[in-house]
Amino acid sequence: MSLKIINTSDGSHTIYNSELNETYHSINGSIKESMHVYVEEGLNYFQKKAKKEVYKIFEVGFGTGLNFVLSYLFSEEKKINIEYHSIEPYPLTDGIIKKLNYFNTELKEREIYLNSHSQKFNSKIIYSDFCSLRKEKETLEEIRINNSFDIIYFDAFAPSKQPSMWTLQNLNKIFTCMSDGSILVTYCSSGKFKRDLKEIGFNVEIIPGPIGKKEMVRATK
Ligand SMILES: C[S@@+](CC[C@H](N)C(=O)[O-])C[C@H]1O[C@@H](n2cnc3c(N)ncnc32)[C@H](O)[C@@H]1O
Repeated sequence: MSLKIINTSDGSHTIYNSELNETYHSINGSIKESMHVYVEEGLNYFQKKAKKEVYKIFEVGFGTGLNFVLSYLFSEEKKINIEYHSIEPYPLTDGIIKKLNYFNTELKEREIYLNSHSQKFNSKIIYSDFCSLRKEKETLEEIRINNSFDIIYFDAFAPSKQPSMWTLQNLNKIFTCMSDGSILVTYCSSGKFKRDLKEIGFNVEIIPGPIGKKEMVRATK
């Protein structure tokens, strides 16, 4: 796989996959995008709406781990418990992980970032009083999900680049592992995707997207 580290507008790196001609994050700012789409409009929105002892998050595509570390930081700041569950069939190499400029090397979050990558698959690691992570080296198509989640971070490559991720079958699988009232957030707001979500039974909201993108989707079960 041909992966290259590139800069985005907020100074944070992302990865460019030349086979797909697609980046892991928005070139308008990877940290800004992750914060807006997943942490603010996903986790923060949901924890204000529903008071729970533990918020169960399921992420499609662990990739750089950026969404995880930003969610960890949020859980520390708000003192809310999160159980973060993520799948990634194509983990990044050590070389790339160490080169990505996420978080100041002297800060605890850099250590969490590196540990989250070296963590073994299929094991759960407790990172703080508020946050644990479980990762699985599985595709969305293959994985069997038995849990019930509160927040889905649907962070797959765009439907135009990897349509197999956005099938009705995959979206249905996600729907069945969501608790009532739970939400799915994603940067994508394509027409077909929104229609499919509605057909499955989601209540679909179109909300302002991160910088450089007019809209994003939040879908509630
Ligand atoms: C847009 S990137 C986002 C990654 C990550 N959330 C981040 O912040 O870096 C999409 C991710 O989905 C992963 N992926 C590709 N095919 C997949 C599949 N069939 N099931 C689950 N994840 C997949 C890719 O390897 C990549 O890491």
